[in-house]
Amino acid sequence: MKKKDAASSEIMNPFAVTIGLDEGLMLGAKNHLGRRASDMRGYYADEAALEQLVAAGDPLHYEVFEVPVPEQAGHLMYCISKLLPGVVGDEYWMTKGHYHEVPGTAEIYLCLRGEGYMVMKTADGRADAKRMVRGQMVYVPPFWAHRSVNTGGEPLISFCVYPAEAGHNYGDIATEGFPQRVFRRHGQPVIE
Ligand SMILES: [Fe+2]
Repeated sequence: MKKKDAASSEIMNPFAVTIGLDEGLMLGAKNHLGRRASDMRGYYADEAALEQLVAAGDPLHYEVFEVPVPEQAGHLMYCISKLLPGVVGDEYWMTKGHYHEVPGTAEIYLCLRGEGYMVMKTADGRADAKRMVRGQMVYVPPFWAHRSVNTGGEPLISFCVYPAEAGHNYGDIATEGFPQRVFRRHGQPVIE
């Protein structure tokens, strides 16, 4: 699938966006995505605990806000990601995680609030996790699937930027998950 290049399109006008750094909001955003507990079936180790959460009101897990730009090479897509705090059994709330549909595209996450990890893996078996705290930037290189995990008591909010043509690919994540997972052991996050 060959996507159009920004260079072959009309020159678009600049624009500005207001971001709520503490609230995890992007004003004027089209709310791209909201995932509830019931959307996370199959992702957590303790399935019974997840079902209890679904039965107890199916709370919102995470939201991603985007003001879209053309999905063309040359443009940069950007988002605010807001992952709420909680545990399913002993496993901290997390996003599903994804590869990029165009695998050779990187992504930058700048943590604005909260604490947690960016958990990453490659299809050929490499794994890594980087701490997310306010002011910490994580560079997710091309070919690395990535997922955020909230190990704190408040929302984990980050700003992301990636090539606009990158797209999302859940690949083997729904079936295989990530080699590293983050659990609460004696009140502390432990990567296992
Ligand atoms: Fe991404």
